Amino acid sequence: MPFKDGDSKKGANLFKTRCAQCHTLGDGEANKIGPNLFGLFGRQTGAVEGYSYTDANKQKAITWNADTLFEYLENPKKYIPGTKMAFGGLKKEKDRNDLITFLREETK
Ligand code: HEC
Repeated sequence: MPFKDGDSKKGANLFKTRCAQCHTLGDGEANKIGPNLFGLFGRQTGAVEGYSYTDANKQKAITWNADTLFEYLENPKKYIPGTKMAFGGLKKEKDRNDLITFLREETK
């Protein structure tokens, strides 16, 4: 099942409750526990300057887009074994579609 457009308002709420404690989205905002996500779409894994990634994250070497995020966010530790991102995953396809729709708008 690939990514499908979702509801970005619901995605905003998911971001706030599930991701915002560790990630910022805006241009030039600081890294938190995780890297700033501005400009994520179209970028290689592990590319934020000044953020200390695991080798696992850097060496995954895929491009982040709606489909790779859709797979990653279901189970980050399965997609990138060895990642230090302490997040169990969003199991519902609809939640991932809503969140990725929001991220695509808010990170550019
Ligand atoms: C408890 C903190 C935490 C939470 C919650 C969290 N993350 Fe992360 N995230 C991290 C850390 C730490 C990394 C860096 C992983 C590494 O280097 O192994 C990361 C990495 C990432 C990456 C890879 C970035 C890159 O440049 O390669 C993406 C994309 C991402 N997170 C998205 C999300 C989204 C979307 C959510 C909410 C569903 C989320 N994260 C929830 C801590 C978190």
